[in-house]
Amino acid sequence: MELLETLAWIESSSCRRAHTTAYAVVQAVNDAVRRSTAYTSGTANHCTAVMHPGPSRLAVVAAATTFGASFAIAQTATPFVQTPFAMPPYKNLRVLSRDITRPQLLGTMKFFSQSLGVRCTYCHVGTEGQPLSAFDFVSDAKDHKVIARDMLRLVLHLNAEHLPAITGLPDAKVSCFTCHRGATKPLTDPPPDTPNTVPPPTADPAPKKPQPNQAEAVS
Ligand code: HEC
Ligand code: HEC
Repeated sequence: MELLETLAWIESSSCRRAHTTAYAVVQAVNDAVRRSTAYTSGTANHCTAVMHPGPSRLAVVAAATTFGASFAIAQTATPFVQTPFAMPPYKNLRVLSRDITRPQLLGTMKFFSQSLGVRCTYCHVGTEGQPLSAFDFVSDAKDHKVIARDMLRLVLHLNAEHLPAITGLPDAKVSCFTCHRGATKPLTDPPPDTPNTVPPPTADPAPKKPQPNQAEAVS
């Protein structure tokens, strides 16, 4: 059940878009890293490239492009051996499927990071600037990771039961981004400049001055 829900969630359109982008970036970064020699700086750039918060698809792609270019320059030194990180089998997955592939897992993790506007260290034990292979992703020592796991349960539950029941739409979905929008603390109140009321609909169905996008309806 959980496995199916998780896969459905990952395959849902909003997630899949972020997921596909993130995966493309990982591939680009991995290709660049494989060709390169400077792993430490590469890791730092990797995190910058994929962790950029907000409406970041362009920023992510741009960062990945820059990243690839910087590695193209570094190609003349000794051959590089990539230190693996986040390799399966995963040891401490309690909500995500244990059969999840590495690209799916990393795509999900990048989606979490982008949704909250944070980097891996927000939830995982590790030191910024150190290679990701030195991180302890298995550990549950950080409260944020434990909360994130419960948030994941919340999302799966909403999508599997509440939203389809309320809307009648099997595909109605929320994700981390629906609430978080690039911040760790979702807004609970409208921003101060939000209008108090929406103007009432006009009594006259035919506006006196047609707007460009209404021309068809008026003529
Ligand atoms: C908002 C919190 C959060 C962020 C940010 C985050 N993760 Fe995770 N990560 C989790 C949670 C929660 C789990 C466990 C999921 C479960 O129990 O099913 C996890 C599990 C993992 C695992 C599996 C470890 C194992 O063997 O059990 C890896 C690897 C991982 N994350 C890598 C990353 C990487 C790389 C990043 C940065 C790109 C990242 N995570 C960012 C919350 C986060
Ligand atoms: C229905 C809205 C909603 C969804 C969906 C949601 N969250 Fe949250 N999340 C919240 C709220 C509300 C808080 C509490 C923020 C506060 O303390 O003010 C929160 C807090 C958190 C925190 C703790 C932040 C802190 O500073 O203490 C983490 C970590 C987190 N969420 C991760 C996630 C992840 C990962 C997902 C997707 C799997 C997710 N959330 C989905 C509403 C949501």
